[in-house]
Amino acid sequence: MAKYEPKGFARGLTHYGDAGFSLYLRRSFAKSMGYSGEMLERPVVGIADSRSGFNNCHRHFPELIEAVKRGVLAAGGLPVEFPTTSLGEVFLSPTSMMFRNLMSMDVEEMVRAQPMDAVVLVGGCDKTVPAQLMGAASADLPAVQLLAGPMMPTSFRGERLGACTDCRRFWALHRAGNVDAAEIENIEGNLATTAGTCAVMGTASTMAAIAEALGMALPGSAAIPAVHADRLRVAEASGRRAVELASTPIRPSQVITGKAVENALRVLLAIGGSTNAIVHLTAIAGRVGIEVSLKKLNELSDSTPVLVDLKPTGQYYMSDLHAAGGIGAVLRELKPLLHLDCMTVGGQTLGEILAKNSPWVDRAVVREFKSPLSPVGGLVALFGSLAPNGAILKRSAADPQLFEREGKAVVFSSLDDLAARIDGPALEVAAQDFLVLQNAGPTSGYAMPEAGYLPIPAKLARAGVKDMVRISDARMSGTAFGTIVLHVSPEAAAGGPLALVRNGDRIKISVKERRIDLLVSEAELRNRKSSWKPPVAPPLRGYAKLYMEHVLQAEHGCDFDFLRKA
Ligand code: FES
Repeated sequence: MAKYEPKGFARGLTHYGDAGFSLYLRRSFAKSMGYSGEMLERPVVGIADSRSGFNNCHRHFPELIEAVKRGVLAAGGLPVEFPTTSLGEVFLSPTSMMFRNLMSMDVEEMVRAQPMDAVVLVGGCDKTVPAQLMGAASADLPAVQLLAGPMMPTSFRGERLGACTDCRRFWALHRAGNVDAAEIENIEGNLATTAGTCAVMGTASTMAAIAEALGMALPGSAAIPAVHADRLRVAEASGRRAVELASTPIRPSQVITGKAVENALRVLLAIGGSTNAIVHLTAIAGRVGIEVSLKKLNELSDSTPVLVDLKPTGQYYMSDLHAAGGIGAVLRELKPLLHLDCMTVGGQTLGEILAKNSPWVDRAVVREFKSPLSPVGGLVALFGSLAPNGAILKRSAADPQLFEREGKAVVFSSLDDLAARIDGPALEVAAQDFLVLQNAGPTSGYAMPEAGYLPIPAKLARAGVKDMVRISDARMSGTAFGTIVLHVSPEAAAGGPLALVRNGDRIKISVKERRIDLLVSEAELRNRKSSWKPPVAPPLRGYAKLYMEHVLQAEHGCDFDFLRKA
């Protein structure tokens, strides 16, 4: 006989030593919120709400969540929203990345501990979607990812502006002395003018595309702008679908499979997506026991063309991608490369979805497979004596003229050192040098911030230098661009070779050979290692202590060792 599984409010009763009493008490307290007995019999759909006054990207969530509730009620369920941690990218110190795992634990535990049969995860800003997917994968309750949707660009003095590639472009002009303080203040008010996530193919948009490609978000939902009525309709549909999943479950572990992760990697490469996404996808996959290898990334990158012409690598915005056919149009082009038998939360396989979706596509934004923007994918992993466990380069956002060269290291030992010296007249640096930042990785005390986009030293910027080879164990915003080698592993704070680089050392990069090497003899490196000391951490307590003791390196997604599935 099948085991009786309690449903709805009868799930996971609070332990008082008397199950009947626990249910009676729960119903009684639920009735204090005005629910009728009939409502309390319905399947319960939790709505994980990550809104916060410190998260501009989620400011439309009240309206979005109303639409989810409408869908749940219409399908015969009971919607119950609950708050979780929110991670507003620019409001957190030292970096939102430090708190992604905290949010994932919050989501996992609240989904598991509270009586719900399915959950709609409402998130969008950079780390929120990875955190929700990581938590949902670990809880393994049926879940639908509902995305915030991107911001709209703003017309400003004859051009369109959108966070945050344009933020960086204007700041670089300001640093070079070409935009004055008054103008930069004007621009500041016109970069992010609507609700939603950054308007370009940054980390939030990339993770939205990945959520759809994995099959965890409803088809066609990734690129719908936050303020478009379709965003509310997909919220309603997500609520409806969650009610169906409550009675006919499809669990995250059935959706996030090895094949689905490979599909997501293909999409990441084809959209010229954010370098951060490789860390997040690795962490999500790790929650269901799937390894993402950087060598595999390189194999896929060699056979996946870049098809989407969005900033920061191209010219358009996410709202243009939606109008051009969305991620569905990208998936259709990639069809011969995809595993079409992957199940999605919508109850259809990827192949069934692609067979049905509209053939409309705007070729200015989504190129044909046979005439791509680039015949190879946007990201590559580099290995070598400087990065034995790998490093990432977003080649689609980099200058190919800097791909095969050797340069002299100009080293900054920390973010504080970088801030103190990068613009100083005493800095000895030339355009062909390689800027190296140490101690900005996961256990550096800065928690791997988006600092890998080292600014061009002011004197070179003023002389017109736009790009240089920059190397670090930090991350980079998905909205940034440049020849920037990131996520060097092992990181400097863990004693990786990056910690041993000194001013004047020669470094060789070869994107063709996927290599990055420190041209210093092994004997000299052994000598340097013998006197190396890790950065001194201040006394830690609470979450910072947990983080420092358990965070893994970039190639393991920077997840905590105890959260990954064995
Ligand atoms: Fe939230 Fe960019 S700040 S997505």
